[in-house]
Amino acid sequence: MKVLLFGGAGYIGTHVALQFLDRNDTVGIFDNLSSGLRTNVHEKALFFEGDIRDKQRVVEVLKQGWDVVIHLAAYKAAGESMLKPIKYSENNITGSLNLITGCIETGVKHFILSSSAAVYGEPTYLPVDEKHPKNPTNYYGYTKLCIEENLKWYSELKGLAYVSLRYFNAAGYDEDGRMLGLENNPANLIPVVMEVACGIRPNLLVFGNDYDTTDGTGVRDYVHVTDLAKGHVLAADHLLAGKGSLIVNLGSEEGLSVQQILDTAREITKKPIDTQYVDRRAGDPAKLVASSKMANKTLGWKAEHSSVENIIKTTWRVYQANQKHLEH
Ligand code: UD1
Repeated sequence: MKVLLFGGAGYIGTHVALQFLDRNDTVGIFDNLSSGLRTNVHEKALFFEGDIRDKQRVVEVLKQGWDVVIHLAAYKAAGESMLKPIKYSENNITGSLNLITGCIETGVKHFILSSSAAVYGEPTYLPVDEKHPKNPTNYYGYTKLCIEENLKWYSELKGLAYVSLRYFNAAGYDEDGRMLGLENNPANLIPVVMEVACGIRPNLLVFGNDYDTTDGTGVRDYVHVTDLAKGHVLAADHLLAGKGSLIVNLGSEEGLSVQQILDTAREITKKPIDTQYVDRRAGDPAKLVASSKMANKTLGWKAEHSSVENIIKTTWRVYQANQKHLEH
């Protein structure tokens, strides 16, 4: 199978590429390296430098003939999207339309989207299944919903078959230590906890300890990036077998609080990890946990690597390997 990954040099894309390369598929990586790293591109993958806002370049690469396109090229900071919506419109919406229309124009028939639990907004019931109302509470979440809606239209009008994978909280690193690049300036909980453990941040700011949860801190569904990556392989096989379009959640179905993440991180890193309790962060729901029954039923997908210990252990290993570089 020939697979082209837009945004394939980033954190999730690198892990997705590894899964396809492991079974000897041909992998192309298209990335503008704005947050992805050239060193993350596997030597067996083909690399195309380019930006999804540049339609001409997108079409030039699509023309090389691909069985499936996977779209992971997006800005993803929910807070930033509320302050800089134009950045998100231009990249996440216009850029995605370039990919979708580019696929139609060049005859690519299968499309996989990195979507997000952010399409749901504040949950009205738990666990959140795919039928849950879609009311994003930030512009980032809206951009994902907008791409999903366009995929639906283009599948009806032009026969593009697609799978939209709504990730919950992606976390962890490759268990064999094959991925060593770190994200710059992380804002997500686990990378921040790791930076405190490494001594490059003084403390973790815990955003709220008065939520209606068992220990008062926010609860999320953390899913290991290798599980997410396997979901893409199953989605590609599903599309190539002609089984049609799908929208599915990918989550571990288990809720973990900030405090539980901290406790495990302290245990595994053997570092104190100082914390400071501050106000809630705007737009943060108390609890967000997935139902992944649909992914199991349609793709045979199941989270198998997503224990909290495995998530923290695999992440800590990469932070330790980067310790020298981080100190500078
Ligand atoms: C957010 C987005 C999600 C997006 C993901 C990737 C929403 C509702 N969620 O997830 O769609 O895909 O980012 O970037 O838009 N926390 C702290 N201190 C910190 C950082 C986080 O206490 O320094 C807490 C948060 O309040 C939350 C939990 O940790 O309870 C997880 O936060 P985070 O890792 O930022 O992910 P989400 O906000 O859940």
